[in-house]
Amino acid sequence: MNCLRETRNQKFVEIENILKILKVGEKQMSKTYKIALIAGDGTGPEVVAEGIKALETAAQKHNFKLEFIKYDLGGARYLKSGEILPDSIMAEFKKADAMFLGAIGHPDVKPGILEKGILLRLRFELDQYINLRPVKLYPNVESPLKDKKPADIDMVIVRENTEGIYIGAGGFLRKNTAQEVATQESINTRFGVERCVRYAYEFTKKRAKNNKLTLCGKTNVLTFASDLWQRVFNIVHKEYAGIETNYVNVDAVCMWLVKNPEWFDVIVTDNLFGDIITDLAAMLQGGIGVAAGGNINPEGVSMFEPMGGSAPKYTGQNIINPIAAINAASMLLDNVGEPKAAQDIENAIIKSLETGKIKSMSAGKMGLTTTQVGDLVASYI
Ligand code: IPM
Ligand code: MG
Repeated sequence: MNCLRETRNQKFVEIENILKILKVGEKQMSKTYKIALIAGDGTGPEVVAEGIKALETAAQKHNFKLEFIKYDLGGARYLKSGEILPDSIMAEFKKADAMFLGAIGHPDVKPGILEKGILLRLRFELDQYINLRPVKLYPNVESPLKDKKPADIDMVIVRENTEGIYIGAGGFLRKNTAQEVATQESINTRFGVERCVRYAYEFTKKRAKNNKLTLCGKTNVLTFASDLWQRVFNIVHKEYAGIETNYVNVDAVCMWLVKNPEWFDVIVTDNLFGDIITDLAAMLQGGIGVAAGGNINPEGVSMFEPMGGSAPKYTGQNIINPIAAINAASMLLDNVGEPKAAQDIENAIIKSLETGKIKSMSAGKMGLTTTQVGDLVASYI
């Protein structure tokens, strides 16, 4: 009996040793992340190329690998074949580690088709329920706010990304008649609001800047939707004793963002208000040449993008600012679990700006080409 136990123990030790060896091997073998790439329309491919440059440089430095899988989607494909987003591609996105998007939008495609058919469909079907928008004024970047310094403009906006007025509830009655009725409803579920609010509290805690979370709504008019948001916000607050909270109506948020941006640390808000205040905030940080965002499913596949559109008039000229796309690349790496590499990219952007070689954030006024800005950033990674 004893003898039997001893041989069994011996076997256990052997198996454990083998497992240890396997684990060490796994650590030494570099990880590969599968990145779905939608360069998209207009200047999308040009800025994405510089994002990839930064990603590859950071990957080499931090010993991981990236596998880019290209998907040809956007206005050009739609005009050629009538295809917007085939289901087979949708299924492949679900298997990626992250997605990197350039820009979608074509002057010959009616507004709404690509936005709804690609961008919103991706957000909804991949359940990317958070739209994360860091707003940071970098050194040597001109803000339209006079007297505001980088220390004054440093906040993050957490926007709900799968509900609200974006859901597409509503319709027409008696369309094209004098009695026409058009409705567009904002749908807010307890589940959807709560997961967004929780994400915002958790994010504020991890960010550990001022530990302050602002709820942006419109409780004085939207006495149903904003009421739900406020109640959920207050209930979840009980689990976050260290976080200071306040509530500001969306119109007042616009006012304070311009007057006293330094008051904000993290702002949480619904889909439509988030859409509006993030564009305002993007301008404070120097414009869409710098601003990046993430469409995040904390339990699934997330997508990162520069905030600017496809800017068709600048296409092919090598003059568009790639910093927003490089910033998006940094957010992507943070999301897949490479925070050091992500930080390296952001630090490289800051160092590049500190050189003073990039004269402006606007297309055609940078004093450098798109490629040269990408090279400069890569050189500091
Ligand atoms: C954004 C954009 C989109 C939105 C458009 C392109 C549908 O403005 O990501 O903020 O409204 O969400
Ligand atoms: Mg927007």
